[in-house]
Amino acid sequence: MKSSVVVGLQWGDEGKGKLVDQLAQQYDAIVRFNGGGNAGHTVVVGNEKKVFHVLPSAALWRKKLYIGAGVVVDPESLEQELSQNPVNVMVDYRCGLITPFEKWLDKRLEELRGTNAIGTTGRGIGPAYADRMLRVSPRVMDVVYGDFRDLSAVRRLIGGGDGITDEWIEMSRRVLSPIAGDVPESLLSLYEEGGSILFEGAQGALLDITYGTYPYVTSSNTVASYVGVGAGFPASKIDEVIGVAKLYVTRVGAGPFPTEIIGELSEKIRGKGGEYGSTTGRARRVGWLDMVALKYAISLNEPAKLKLVFTKADVLAGLGDLRAAVAYSVDGKESSNFVDALAGKRVEPVYESFDPIPDVDWESVAKSGWGAAPKQLRNFIDFIQDYLKVEVTEVSIGARRGMSVELRRCAFSS
Ligand code: IMP
Ligand code: MG
Repeated sequence: MKSSVVVGLQWGDEGKGKLVDQLAQQYDAIVRFNGGGNAGHTVVVGNEKKVFHVLPSAALWRKKLYIGAGVVVDPESLEQELSQNPVNVMVDYRCGLITPFEKWLDKRLEELRGTNAIGTTGRGIGPAYADRMLRVSPRVMDVVYGDFRDLSAVRRLIGGGDGITDEWIEMSRRVLSPIAGDVPESLLSLYEEGGSILFEGAQGALLDITYGTYPYVTSSNTVASYVGVGAGFPASKIDEVIGVAKLYVTRVGAGPFPTEIIGELSEKIRGKGGEYGSTTGRARRVGWLDMVALKYAISLNEPAKLKLVFTKADVLAGLGDLRAAVAYSVDGKESSNFVDALAGKRVEPVYESFDPIPDVDWESVAKSGWGAAPKQLRNFIDFIQDYLKVEVTEVSIGARRGMSVELRRCAFSS
């Protein structure tokens, strides 16, 4: 009996998809609990690449898959994803639905924001969560159980976008009726019968609607404890949190990014790491590892239960001198509080330099284990571990399945 949560500790795209695919074998059920089709979780098997948006990234395994009520679901894109991945998935009756109106409103709001645009994925995520709070959003159960009414007072007020048509209701009913169910009840009985559950977070802590770099955030909570609400599963029963972070940082969309790299090096990293959005294809902004931000993200994600997994070490190799922010300088004073960056203050990263990681045969490192990894990489991870006082359990060294190394339990000084 085990329940674990995988969460992103940066601005999304940390490599959660690869990790969930790898971990899925050890669990009976895999559950999405936040976000929606804005997510792009990539799994690479051999030469084949799969991107999951609202389905859990374990869709390649024969596992029980769930979409909890904290997720907003677009029936149209779910139908498409299911046609490419014919899997068994249960969607909670209470999930909010994204209709053509929310997608229209998402794009219209971005236009109106002009130079302050957030850079959303355009999938209707923000308006769908807002409509729920306004109590005008249709839910899965509203289309599944007959008598559907278009509650969108917001649409009537705004007077733009398309209304809900009979065709849309019919399509949604066709997609959702066979898969709608009571996710909290199913998860609790599975757990009580000894089943194990893996919760798959979408986006990352710094995109959290409450704790992230507001307003440049997504519209759901992205932290581990949101499992309690977004899946209706008792947060107290979570055994471990697996926090995923890249050894550098990326962000797609606008907003503060203290360690952003501008210029040639960022292009080099973007090219080597394939740093283009899996959902929108946009070029991701690239920066150095920010340990101030990471410490903040860890503090919000059950730190006592958290283990760290770093990804994309192979991308940093062969790039020359390496840096990571260990503090900020704010108005000439040193700070180690990410809230200074949230408050829009001018934060200048204080960097520590590290020896370049040589490019090696990563396939053979994956086979031989952590001891075979370049010592510069091992030193870098040791430093991070000491700084954060959190155990690093695994380092990913390639996109394909199997390209990771587990670390032996590493002691850190406290
Ligand atoms: P939204 O979630 O589409 O409203 O977009 C809000 C912000 O979150 C934008 O900066 C998006 O680029 C970002 N975002 C949303 N989903 C993801 C994701 O899965 N990975 C990375 N960034 C994301
Ligand atoms: Mg992604």
